[in-house]
Amino acid sequence: MTSQASAGESHQRLPGTESAGKGQLGPTGRPLPAFPPPPALASHGPARVISMCNQKGGVGKTTSTINLGAALAEYGRKVLLVDFDPQGALSVGLGVKAHELDVTVYNLLVERSHDIKDVIRPTATPGLDVLPANIDLSAAEVQLVGEVAREMVLSRVLRPVLDDYDVVLIDCQPSLGLLTVNALTASHGVIIPLECEFFAMRGVALLVETIEKVTDRLNPRLQMDGILATMYDGRTLHSRDVVRSVVDHFGDTVFHTVITRTVKFPDATLAAEPITTYASTHGAAEAYRQLARELISRGGAA
Ligand SMILES: Nc1ncnc2c1ncn2[C@@H]1O[C@H](COP(=O)(O)OP(=O)(O)O)[C@@H](O)[C@H]1O
Ligand SMILES: [Mg+2]
Repeated sequence: MTSQASAGESHQRLPGTESAGKGQLGPTGRPLPAFPPPPALASHGPARVISMCNQKGGVGKTTSTINLGAALAEYGRKVLLVDFDPQGALSVGLGVKAHELDVTVYNLLVERSHDIKDVIRPTATPGLDVLPANIDLSAAEVQLVGEVAREMVLSRVLRPVLDDYDVVLIDCQPSLGLLTVNALTASHGVIIPLECEFFAMRGVALLVETIEKVTDRLNPRLQMDGILATMYDGRTLHSRDVVRSVVDHFGDTVFHTVITRTVKFPDATLAAEPITTYASTHGAAEAYRQLARELISRGGAA
């Protein structure tokens, strides 16, 4: 199936070019639609809030949050990234020295005396802001347990700025605890990054069950926006098998866009930049631009 193998390299196109031609199979084994550049927005907000969620670590949540956010910002969307992992990798990946900050998302959750607008920081990417976190956030889970409406605290924290943004992406920590439930309760949608590895699907049933519980009990508007295959290696049968089995299982929920495994991502993290600026013409940058267009085309963002 040479068409599939070559489609696996579909990330190598230059930015702004259209997706594959009619009938060409994409890396997920389905015909790859064209995702046209989104129309410019005449005005901004209210934001659609999306959680990037998987209780497994190292699957590309943080990388996808940064780079999908940067790609949406390139398309003129106003984007807020929320670091909701005490490891603070999102903040660091955007050049914020979060460990030196006295006030982060943690303080907004547990103290009432702060204004979120004072805590949000701009990044070097125009249109892309970040609400930072650091290790302080690890105490929040325990502290929130005794709160009234403890699952809705992040929702309350974000409310004052929703009108300022088109998209808010929440980078969840690798657990299904109270912080993640807060993220899901504050969200309109959820994206699940899945690493193209043999055990990728392990734990996904539990994650889906958690999402369903939140939808049922706390947040009926919550939608599954999509499953994103990450760290894909089109040269290996293994990667292709994993993607096909994920599509067999989840059907059209799976994004057509897949993210190839490349050392450019750790490199960009070290440079504290999104890949869209660190290696602007690289296929991996174009992949996140395509994801942004695909998300917009399926109504997951304005
Ligand atoms: N597509 C990719 N190819 C290669 N390395 C990647 C890719 N996506 C992420 N990484 C690297 O893998 C590690 C884990 O990714 P990360 O986004 O931090 O995952 P998570 O937030 O789910 O724990 C990081 O070092 C990151 O730079
Ligand atoms: Mg992470």
